Amino acid sequence: MRAKGVIGIDIGTESIKVVALEAVPGESLARVVGAGAALTKGMRKGVIIDPTEVTKAIKEAMGAFEKSTGIKSGNVYAGIGGIGVASQKSKGLVAVSRADGEITKEDVFRAIGASETNLSRIQNREILHKFPVLYRIDNETITHDPAGLMGVRLEAEVLFITSFSQSLKNIIKAFEEADVYIEEIIASPLAAAHAVLESREKEVGTMLLDFGASTTSVILFEEGLPYSLEVLPFGSSHITQDIAMGLRVTLEEAEKLKINYGTVRYENSSSNKKPARPAGGTDLVYGNYSKKKLAEIIEARLDDIFELVEKHLKKVERLGILPGGVVIVGGGANLPGIEEFAKERLKLHARVAEPAALGGFKDKVRNPAWSVAVGTTLMALEKKNSLSPFLRGRSGSFFKWLRAFLP
Ligand SMILES: Nc1ncnc2c1ncn2[C@@H]1O[C@H](COP(=O)(O)OP(=O)(O)OP(=O)(O)O)[C@@H](O)[C@H]1O
Ligand SMILES: [Mg+2]
Repeated sequence: MRAKGVIGIDIGTESIKVVALEAVPGESLARVVGAGAALTKGMRKGVIIDPTEVTKAIKEAMGAFEKSTGIKSGNVYAGIGGIGVASQKSKGLVAVSRADGEITKEDVFRAIGASETNLSRIQNREILHKFPVLYRIDNETITHDPAGLMGVRLEAEVLFITSFSQSLKNIIKAFEEADVYIEEIIASPLAAAHAVLESREKEVGTMLLDFGASTTSVILFEEGLPYSLEVLPFGSSHITQDIAMGLRVTLEEAEKLKINYGTVRYENSSSNKKPARPAGGTDLVYGNYSKKKLAEIIEARLDDIFELVEKHLKKVERLGILPGGVVIVGGGANLPGIEEFAKERLKLHARVAEPAALGGFKDKVRNPAWSVAVGTTLMALEKKNSLSPFLRGRSGSFFKWLRAFLP
């Protein structure tokens, strides 16, 4: 692999996507070196249930990647999601150690460490990332690094992103058996956000929604930092299943109908890329199936999924107060009309996004479905160039734990 290149992999329920990016001195945009993908088997709702099947899919995806790039292997960064990934906030309080009351970096680390100790519901979970969101010095709140300020007591409030230990073990096993060495694991909603959100959006308050095959992940940002994260157990494959049942067709036919003719908000779909009515003015597609009925089935399932999204916003007290709106990615974001649907349903500004601001073979990844793969790789690349605020200050414990499993 060339000097400053990195490989990132998105372990999705429907497909595994591999991409390589490189930083070229003097160029501001990362270059896409190449990409490859393979259909996944052995996963359910983003969680590995059969590591052997996933190993096969990783090998296949790496094979396609090698064909496209000529790169045989390298250390990879893996984006992992699924229903095992969640966020949790915790607080940690310490006494400032210096007699003159000046807060040291050490005090800050201790306060963050105390918040980790105070984490509840951590059994069978590992910490993937941690973000100090605010500090309190003797009850005065500050949102920047408190080192150098004066006080008696320092409290840190930290957002932790965690995953089930068992799913991490399975992922490591699947990669090991495919002879691919994982350098780091990144929570995929965080990676997707890194690929498509602008810093202004993260600053003012924005939700990223990754509409995948079997999961929908939401991650909120505020003041530049993640605020909450939840992985919902439904995605675009559930729409396919509904179509199969509603129109009494096979899953393969249902998927084709969804991809080729599916829309949401059939009546006012004038802004959709696909025509609202097929040529000839008939409502029927493939001669038999009503496009209107198809849109109704799709809308019913989307409505259920967005109800869960709304519930999350309510739970974290952000319903109706996200100035940056919602940014939609994932393969499911390709559904025509989804932007308008999200706007109406959540009463927020909405846009569909795909990885942009890239050079090289960028067309290979110009689809909302590639956001996690590209984001994972971008985070890795920035880390290599020591620019990423995301990867700094992350817990070392998980990686010590991870290394314990590696040869
Ligand atoms: N034009 C389209 N309209 C609707 N759905 C689409 C379209 N194109 C792709 N999809 C759906 O996107 C899904 C795949 O998305 P993606 O690649 O983001 O999933 P994944 O990452 O493998 O899964 P997950 O994130 O749930 O683990 C499939 O269910 C596919 O049917
Ligand atoms: Mg996905």
